Amino acid sequence: MSPMADLVLGPMLRYVSETEATVWVETDVPCEVEILGRREPTFCVEEHHYALVRLEGLEPASFNEYEVALDGERRWPAADSDLPPSVIRTLGRDAPLDICFGSCRVALPHVEPYVHSKDRHEDGREFDALRVLAVEMTRGEHDEWPELLFLLGDQVYVDEGSPRARERIRKRRGTETPPGEEVVDYEEYSWLYEESWSEPLIRWLFSTVSVSMQWDDHDMSDDWNISRSWLEEMNRKSWWHGRAVAGTMSYWVYQHLGNLSPRELDEDDLYRRVRGNVHATAELREFAERIRVDGNGSRWSFCRDVGGSRAIFLDSRAGRVLQEGERSMVDEEEWEWIVEHARGDFDHLLIATTVPFLLSPGFHHLEAWNERVCDGAWGPLAARGAEKLRRAVDFDHWASFGGSFQLLRELIEQVGSGRRGKPPASIVVLSGDVHHAYLAEIGFRPGSGVESAAYQAVCSPYRNPLDDKERRVIRAGFSRPFSALTGAAARAVGAEDPGIRWRLTDGPYFDNQVATIRVDGRHASMKLDKTIAGDEDERRLDCVFERRLA
Ligand SMILES: [Fe+2]
Repeated sequence: MSPMADLVLGPMLRYVSETEATVWVETDVPCEVEILGRREPTFCVEEHHYALVRLEGLEPASFNEYEVALDGERRWPAADSDLPPSVIRTLGRDAPLDICFGSCRVALPHVEPYVHSKDRHEDGREFDALRVLAVEMTRGEHDEWPELLFLLGDQVYVDEGSPRARERIRKRRGTETPPGEEVVDYEEYSWLYEESWSEPLIRWLFSTVSVSMQWDDHDMSDDWNISRSWLEEMNRKSWWHGRAVAGTMSYWVYQHLGNLSPRELDEDDLYRRVRGNVHATAELREFAERIRVDGNGSRWSFCRDVGGSRAIFLDSRAGRVLQEGERSMVDEEEWEWIVEHARGDFDHLLIATTVPFLLSPGFHHLEAWNERVCDGAWGPLAARGAEKLRRAVDFDHWASFGGSFQLLRELIEQVGSGRRGKPPASIVVLSGDVHHAYLAEIGFRPGSGVESAAYQAVCSPYRNPLDDKERRVIRAGFSRPFSALTGAAARAVGAEDPGIRWRLTDGPYFDNQVATIRVDGRHASMKLDKTIAGDEDERRLDCVFERRLA
């Protein structure tokens, strides 16, 4: 035990139910972490120290201010902090819930040139929507604070932003050879997380709003698992194996563990071996190496029950099956787990999946067309061209995994028509990834029997806006002539009809933004807030739409 222990990251409030919570921390030396009388020893991975403190037996719908002590010494809040106390708010059965969601947050300081627009300066990424949300929370009443925050991918960028981490990388090793300034191992990943999560307002936000997370490509590599040829190419690179193992190990520690309930943690064989273990590197490395070799045996999808609603987090990146003709977002075993968990009586069913299920109709058809041509609809030469296009323009959403698209559509229809329990008032697919935000309402075939209102809600980025040119391309995807043209192209190569229609009700919106789903009994609504530039004191979020979903 060291008398000098201090926090490196956290406290981060992760899983919360009516009576339980988990709080994650990283510390600089091994120690015992204490929160509200519950103690947990740290475990050690690659010379970094972590603990996930479990709090059980809390009162439902309770408001619990907390501090963090390391080896008996208070280390949170910092003595000079002027932020409100950190709080664990347990869920109540009937209380309304505000669930913020979005994706894509590059780590950059809030100084010039980073606060400029991308069109004004190439390094400009404007203001972090989550940081502005935190500012508004510190000014507002705590009964208006959101209860949950879903981070839907690109929590860290291996290849973008994080100037402090890049500087450390340049000092540590040569960056002339691939992958240059991209991270290569666990240590460098820890620098990305530190830079991304140590900003004081973000740290406070994460200490007080229960955070769930899912990884997307940039957490591992741009275009991660976009296609089989991508994977084959990466497997030939000498540094890829090390990156993939480090990416998996760090995801498990920093992101995955806190997604799980105390009961799931107890059932997790790997966590049992890591918990409190000061030599946990080998255990975790062996797990990550095994995933690298056979690609399966791991399920990153998880589930959270919040009030009378269920949120299923469907991993759409790490568990992909990439064999041409058998492309699938997740393997069969994981899909069965998802189907099993989409059964029950819920007020609302939220399906979080980083890459959108429904794109603009124009791009949906284009991706469906591309998948067919990749699979040889126009012969081998065209297939190679289509593969190049797939990778050049990121065709890797549900539309380009046609088989999986149909399975998810059928599942939504089954839930919505009461074949898997009482139909929820709403079924909302939550996604990020695409650096713009929109809401689309889903229409089903006559006779489908769907009673639930169903939507695709997309919010991205928290901080990583598109430039003007990129925005024009996105807008074109929603235009009628473009979607008529691509629809005809998709039909011509035998792409299956989507089997549903969808209508854009709001958007597309650009800039940095954060969306909120409010569930209140059988009612639900969505709002979208964008950042407004301004001085530190007057910076705020501006609501661009609010819509009743059910
Ligand atoms: Fe992104």
